[in-house]
Amino acid sequence: MYVFDREAYNKRMEWYLDARFGMFIHWGLYSIPARGEWVRSTEEMPKEEYMQFFEEFDPVDYDPKAWAKAAKEAGMKYVVLTAKHHDGFCLFDSQYTDFKSTNTKCGRDLVAEFVEAVRAEGLKVGLYFTLIDWYHEDYPHYGDKNHPMRNNENYKNNGRNFDNYLTYMHNQIREICTNYGKLDVLWFDFSYDDMRGEKWKATELMDMVRSLQPDVIIDNRLECSGEGYGSLAQGNPTPYHGDFVSPEQMIPPNGIQDVNGNDLAWEACMTMNNNWGFHATDHFFKPASMLIKKLVECVSKGGNLLLNVGPDARGNIPGESMEILCEIGKWMKKNGRSIYGCGKAEIQKPDYGRVTRNGNHLYFHLYENTVGPVPLLGIKKDEVRAVRYLETGAEVPISNSWVHSDYPDIVFADLGPDPILPNSIDTVLEVVLK
Ligand code: GLC
Repeated sequence: MYVFDREAYNKRMEWYLDARFGMFIHWGLYSIPARGEWVRSTEEMPKEEYMQFFEEFDPVDYDPKAWAKAAKEAGMKYVVLTAKHHDGFCLFDSQYTDFKSTNTKCGRDLVAEFVEAVRAEGLKVGLYFTLIDWYHEDYPHYGDKNHPMRNNENYKNNGRNFDNYLTYMHNQIREICTNYGKLDVLWFDFSYDDMRGEKWKATELMDMVRSLQPDVIIDNRLECSGEGYGSLAQGNPTPYHGDFVSPEQMIPPNGIQDVNGNDLAWEACMTMNNNWGFHATDHFFKPASMLIKKLVECVSKGGNLLLNVGPDARGNIPGESMEILCEIGKWMKKNGRSIYGCGKAEIQKPDYGRVTRNGNHLYFHLYENTVGPVPLLGIKKDEVRAVRYLETGAEVPISNSWVHSDYPDIVFADLGPDPILPNSIDTVLEVVLK
């Protein structure tokens, strides 16, 4: 039976904590109605009505190589695709259901092509799999918190056999852990009310998963959701504990610590606009400049960022998202060293930006300039070996000006006469300590 082992845990988490930045992909039948991935639930849509999208689904432009390339170009190190979302539709060829991509017009195992494309780009591969299923007859309908038929008395639950459902769910998870090679991340979604932990037969499930995929990194949603930290944080990990906390649509103000005050691994998942699945009229995209700073914020608080795209019904990542990814990539190409392998600096956040750290390398992220040389608070003059612009490697002199004579202990970095910072989004100074 799986038991938590700190050493094994630290080992499997290594690449993930280095990576810091990943892509989330929400894609499925719901890209056709294009009102978000919860459309069947929010509109309380009967199954029969939703089936039109199953009949129609034909993503002629699906090209996971292009997705993987976009992720790589953006500087992302891993990609997580919804193998199955709450609507129950499988993007993989499951032998346990007919409700799958191989039975649509496209006839393809979308997951198989995805994992291959992602690995070919040298990225780590993750699959999202929801514990919830609005298609399966044995999943609670009436009175459930989320089910599309939750308010419809014709869908009372007499005769539904939840154990049957669990067998089905476990079987499908066995399939994705068996048929698609080594998985780096398994992203379960999500627990609610009394639907958590052993209600999912989680010990049994995780025993299977850990034996089939010993190195896979798993989120904490067998125990909780975007809300709640889980048993690793409580200092008493269950056999189905998550490897990281999964805050959703927010960045934890102080990072996340366990009951003993030790930092925990976490990953903020975030949409670029306001929906996970493709939404035809949601054009409220966060600008790349903002997302770069949010990535820096996550890293400076010891976390990862999993940034979402929602491809459309043809299989294309929206143009807005592609442009944003491209712009993030430009910054990452020059400044990735202040992200990968970095974490908290244990230095107070400066007025003008943030600080990340990798060993004896400190990265001062400047979002706005100071008047005159920039005070690098939190380090001592005699500790500093070098200060460089990360983008160019050019030396940044330390100021000896008389205007700082009242602050002999503070290192002031002299950026020269131009008040405009060289990178208008985030200019990174690399400080190498002795
Ligand atoms: C939520 C939603 C879901 C989304 C997930 C991503 O819990 O149910 O649609 O997939 O968050 O974190």
